[in-house]
Amino acid sequence: MTPVMTAVERQQERLYVSDLVADSDLTREDIELIFRLADHVKNAPPAYARALEGKQLALIFEKPSLRTRVTFEVGMTSMGGHAVYLDHAKPRLGERESIKDVARNLERWVDGIVARTFSHTSVAELAENASIPVINALTDLFHPCQALADYFTLREKFGSLEGFKLAFVGDGNNVCHSLMITGASLGAHILVATPPGFEPKSDFVKAAQKTALERGSTVRIVHDPIEAVDGAQAVYTDVWASMGQEHAAHLRAQVFAPYRVTEDLMARADSGGVFMHCLPAHRGQEVSDAVIDSPRSIVYDQAENRLHVQKALLLLLLGNETSSKARGAGRRAEEKNFCLVAQSS
Ligand code: CP
Ligand code: NVA
Repeated sequence: MTPVMTAVERQQERLYVSDLVADSDLTREDIELIFRLADHVKNAPPAYARALEGKQLALIFEKPSLRTRVTFEVGMTSMGGHAVYLDHAKPRLGERESIKDVARNLERWVDGIVARTFSHTSVAELAENASIPVINALTDLFHPCQALADYFTLREKFGSLEGFKLAFVGDGNNVCHSLMITGASLGAHILVATPPGFEPKSDFVKAAQKTALERGSTVRIVHDPIEAVDGAQAVYTDVWASMGQEHAAHLRAQVFAPYRVTEDLMARADSGGVFMHCLPAHRGQEVSDAVIDSPRSIVYDQAENRLHVQKALLLLLLGNETSSKARGAGRRAEEKNFCLVAQSS
């Protein structure tokens, strides 16, 4: 059996952060460490079958999920740990009791929290108040686990992503923000085409452009999908109405119609260019059946890699030797045990 990857093989022992709230939390070195470990986990799953034995993970979801929920649950179970699903569709997080109190309770029982919330501040508040690692599983602003799995998938297919050309066509939303920020860290060129008024948030564009400049790449926002896709090695789209925006779906369908990824649009991409989507897809809206079902589509590879990348993330954040928060929580547990022993003796 291939042995578990050693710290020396990882070249960097642990992440510089103890939570993953936003993509900007991760340095390029962090991302590369996650990718190296994800490679190893993907190639040798049995080597990690007991790596998180005894570890518990809480999954807080205010919104539906297929991929994120299943990959975190299966990821924990396949490494000897366990996940507890907390349905927070109603009441939302913070409505029954404060987010601070939720954090201060959960840290007494579990080793990590994964949270999908409407408001980004909810995940940030959990992370501020919990002594255990908190992972963003999608908010209104970011979807960092998705971007990690997406770039891991591209790295598998294309090698280094320095100078890689990715075009995002559609809504300048959470997935777009994460792709811009993580892509810039990896030195990829990102071109985003949205309808006027649906651009990604300017603060995140500026931050991604600053990182890109340091890495020798570019991040540009345009309104013409053909301009964005011209020569792209990956063409990425997402739903036109995200979870929580269903009421605006009809209006958005009209505004976004010129941004549908069709075979004609894909013909403008590089001849080896791939099609990407975070899923779920609204077939016939943002992407035609012919494109998503074509040999150029790598959407199910992206979905598969959610599992391997998140397993690496869980190992780095929840594993005993790696996370500073885990070490801190471990110390507090030891102190508590010491107090109990002291009291009883
Ligand atoms: N891509 C993604 O996060 O899918 P789910 O909404 O099904 O989790
Ligand atoms: N932008 C989409 C992504 C789903 C994975 C949403 O927020 O609903």
